Formats: sequence, C-alpha cells, structure tokens
Amino acid sequence: MTTKINFNGEIFDELSISVMDHGFLFGDSVYEVVSTLNNQPCFLDKHLDRLNNSAQAISLKIPRDRGWFREQLKSTLVSAGNEESYIRIIVTRGIGEINIDPSSCANPNIILIVMDVTKYSESFYEKGIQVALVSIKRNPLDSLNPNIKTGNYLNNVLAKMEAEKLGAQDAIMVNPWGYLTEGTTSNLFFVCEGHILTPSMECGILSGITREIIIQLAKENGFHIEEGKWPGAELLKADEIFLTGTIKKVMPVSHLDGRPVGTGKPGPITLNLLRLYDDLLTKKV
Ligand code: PDD
Repeated sequence: MTTKINFNGEIFDELSISVMDHGFLFGDSVYEVVSTLNNQPCFLDKHLDRLNNSAQAISLKIPRDRGWFREQLKSTLVSAGNEESYIRIIVTRGIGEINIDPSSCANPNIILIVMDVTKYSESFYEKGIQVALVSIKRNPLDSLNPNIKTGNYLNNVLAKMEAEKLGAQDAIMVNPWGYLTEGTTSNLFFVCEGHILTPSMECGILSGITREIIIQLAKENGFHIEEGKWPGAELLKADEIFLTGTIKKVMPVSHLDGRPVGTGKPGPITLNLLRLYDDLLTKKV
C-alpha cells in the first residue's frame, strides 16, 4: 500500500509542487496512466509514444529521453514495492510567471506517481456499469484536440458530474455535431446486429491504447469491426456497449440512461473481447 513519487529523478513519499507551476495554474501539462502486470509497466512504449506526441502537440519539450523514463520508473516501482501499481506520468510546463504565456517556464517538471492500484472489482465485470449520454460535449478537434492527453480535463469532469447527477457511473459524450465520441476516461464500443462499432478519430477522441489493441484483437479473431461516425441516438439500438481503458480494460455497460442495454447483462462479444485482452496481457509481460 505504498505511494512513491519521483520528482525530476528523486523519489519521495509525498510531494508538494509550486503553485506557480503552469500545470497547476492552467492545466498546462501532459500525462499518461499506465497499469502493471507483475509490477512491470504494460505497453510502456506505446504510452511513452503518446506522451511524446501530446507534448509535441502543445510545444512542450520533454527534457529527458525514453531510457531515462524507463530507468526512473523501474527504481520508483522497486521503491514502492507494491504487488501491482497504478502509474501516472506527468510532465508539466514548469514554474513561470502568473500569466498564461508559457515562455516564462524554463524547466518542465517530470512527476512519476507510483501507487497501489485500485482495480475494479469482479462484480463490475459481472454486472456491467451504468452510463448516461450527457449534454456536455467532447471538445471539437480544432479546439483542445481530445487526442492530446493534457492535464486539462475539466470538460470531462463536468461530464462525469452530470452523469452522476443522472444516477449513472460514467458519461458518454457526443461532439458538437451530435456524433458519439467516448467516455470521460475511456473509449466507446457498441455492438449492433453482431457488428462491433466504435467512433473514429475524426469524431474527436483520444487514440486509446486499449482501443487500438481491441480493434486489432477483434480483427484477428474474425469479428466485424468498423470505425465511423454515429449520432448519439444509435447507441439506444445497441445490443451491447463496452468501454475500454488502461484501468477499466474492457468494461461492460449494463444500462444506458437508466434502460437496460440488450439483456441488461454483459453481452457475449464484450466478454469474449475481455477474455482475449486478459490473455494478451498475460502473454505480453
Ligand atoms: N484515461 N479516452 C480518454 C478521454 C481517456 O482519458 C482515456 C484514458 C482513454 C483510454 O485510453 P487508454 O486505453 O490508452 O487508457 C480514452 C486514463 C486511464 C486516465 O486518465 O485515467
């Protein structure tokens, strides 16, 4: 049950960070969430690729290379000594003047949080979760592009709060044109007449690492899978819905807007993909 925090290469039990860091002031930061298997990071290369892409997209120069991240993560994981860990990698713009201009921030800060992971209990996978289609829209591509994983998640926080007010555990957002996008920290898939459908990148979503793996697994295992644009109302016709993400893995959805999805129990395609994903994880690490 240990938390260790690596700040620019030094490991601490707790960390205070300057209120003048633009990550704190403006959400001017990028981040990744990585899971572990046997306390080893899963898909670390893919996460470091996306971290670099996110940083590049906001013109944030990360002062350390991939080897440094690997080394530091390794020592922080050993220091924490958990059975399994939740890893959050954050790179902030750094300390600067108290105005929005990032040019006064000379040194980005790198923070690696390693803590005991709180996994979803088995009952979530057995019963599924309840979601709601919310009125808060996912940012359009030419605003803060959802494919940049920044520390500015307030849009998604508002969506999550709206879902909870509606009695659901998570939110599904559409884009400003009414097309389905994703969950607040997960990608969306649904099944109609045996076809697996998932919103395409042009709808404005994060290119989830779990999403990519699920698309590949579905193709390799003979499922019909399609990326595209569907209005929010399409989801009401779904026989199965599931969300994907690093911690959620493949999470069945039992209810949408208070109504059962299909039988109201996790569907066969969802459970099949969850099993395939779990098998892949144990083979990979
Ligand atoms: N969230 N969409 C959004 C908006 C996300 O924040 C995430 C990840 C995903 C799924 O991506 P991946 O499969 O690479 O985890 C999709 C992480 C887990 C988080 O912020 O906690």
